[in-house]
Amino acid sequence: MSDVLKLGVLASGRGSNLQSILDAIDAGNLDARVDVVVSNTPRCRALERAAGRGIRAECISRKAAGGRRPQLLRMTEILQAAGVDLVVLAGFNLITPPEMTAAFPNRILNIHPTLLPAFAGGMAPAPQQDAIDWGVKFTGCTIHVVTDELDAGPIVAQAAVPVRDGDDADTLSDRILVEEHRLYPQVLQWFAEGRVRVEGRRVFVADNSEPSEVG
Ligand code: GRF
Repeated sequence: MSDVLKLGVLASGRGSNLQSILDAIDAGNLDARVDVVVSNTPRCRALERAAGRGIRAECISRKAAGGRRPQLLRMTEILQAAGVDLVVLAGFNLITPPEMTAAFPNRILNIHPTLLPAFAGGMAPAPQQDAIDWGVKFTGCTIHVVTDELDAGPIVAQAAVPVRDGDDADTLSDRILVEEHRLYPQVLQWFAEGRVRVEGRRVFVADNSEPSEVG
């Protein structure tokens, strides 16, 4: 891995998690560089945020690519050609193909707005609403390694928030998002420092003093 962690971000919408990563880099809290942002949604906010900072911003539409599979394979090619160390899913609403996970073994991360394995699947705000409807008292967000099983890869980090009586999907999402924006840059910094080790379903983060390789 190079000195500065090279990131490729996949995003489909608002891009607030992308922004939190860029802000952490700017603040000197994350030793990384976002080399490319790829989206399936033309003119989405995430692409605008990237382009506004001079970061390469690519939209690969299903139509232009000639179907879902070629679209996802083209995205994989772009990430490989860019030579990114880690692929960061930040509000990406497509399921990654096996070719992408094979190209980046243990090197694709996703953030999901619940405490997995509860309320896996679906895109915000559906999982947050599911948590309210189920009546859980705590929910939160999970950052996990992406495997070929949806939202079921090894868990790197989680943050919990309370569910309040008056919550709707919006108020709960806002509370979770505060934690998402804190946690994603922190986890990426662990990767930048070479401290993350994946062993089967379990992920270990070494002390600052003992660097290790991603397994
Ligand atoms: C977040 O809630 C994230 O957990 C989920 O999609 C949403 C993305 O938000 N995967 P944003 O595009 O980063 O603002």
